[in-house]
Amino acid sequence: MIKVQDIVYVAHRAPDLEVHASFLSDFGLVEVARTADRLYMRGAGPYPFIHVTELGEPGFAGVAMLVGSAAELEEASRLPGASAIEPAEGPGGGQRVRLTAPDGYRVDLLHGMTLVDPLPLRAPLPVNFAYEKQRVKSFQRPSHEPAQIVRLGHCVLKFSDGDAAAKWFRETLGMLVTDRLHVPGDQAATLGNFLRCDRGDRPADHHTIFALNTPGDINVHHVSFEVQDPDAVHIGHEWLREKGYKAAWGVGRHLLGSQIFDYWRSPWGYMFEHYADGDLLTADMAAGDYPATEENLAQWGPALAPRFFESVVVD
Ligand SMILES: [Fe+2]
Repeated sequence: MIKVQDIVYVAHRAPDLEVHASFLSDFGLVEVARTADRLYMRGAGPYPFIHVTELGEPGFAGVAMLVGSAAELEEASRLPGASAIEPAEGPGGGQRVRLTAPDGYRVDLLHGMTLVDPLPLRAPLPVNFAYEKQRVKSFQRPSHEPAQIVRLGHCVLKFSDGDAAAKWFRETLGMLVTDRLHVPGDQAATLGNFLRCDRGDRPADHHTIFALNTPGDINVHHVSFEVQDPDAVHIGHEWLREKGYKAAWGVGRHLLGSQIFDYWRSPWGYMFEHYADGDLLTADMAAGDYPATEENLAQWGPALAPRFFESVVVD
């Protein structure tokens, strides 16, 4: 059975690679390669790239995930509507099988890419807790810089049927439902399903895909990248604000997943999230079910931004 093990990269389309490169650099990604119609950017972690911009009309182009073995890629190639096993595009090579998820989302499964050496990363800041001091005669002096991104964490997509989408990710990619969100006051009405990778006893992020149920509104909601620690989230916020980008919501702490979050709009209005300190789960944890109240979206932080659920906000 296919069990995706991680999310590797997401792809957006943009009509100007240079403008997108500038935003993504200020967001904390590092350019690794560029062609006439592709821009590849990495984080500090070992994947050769974690974001690709495809030249074209603004939009979301897809997500790529890692499978654990060549045999799983072979199995994927026999799924209905799957591509053959093809060379993967971009730095790092490897092989891919291209699938189409419900509502037409492109999901590439990857195997055999060459990993790269991690980039130098600021060490986590040692915190002096009230009764647990980690720092004496040393000072907190993090640099004022873009929030250095370590890795891609998750991708949130809007579907015409959020339960059917979750079923596809469970049955096709072996993912597990971590938590379900329902409409407050109507437990039967799904608002979305958080899905994590089944890595057995190895911890996985609370969610790698969040499948929202939004009939009539099919688009990406946001993509989310992990940074070193909460200070990086706040310093990244200052950096983006000073550069004149549009803040979407944050800084706050989510309830489901517990991430300290901060959301920004790209030059074409798409939402990109920084996060730190998210929850990790093993495969043996039963799914939860929560009403989608504001208290269940964030434990602290600014009031929910009125346009947060809009996929694209440019004005
Ligand atoms: Fe998120």
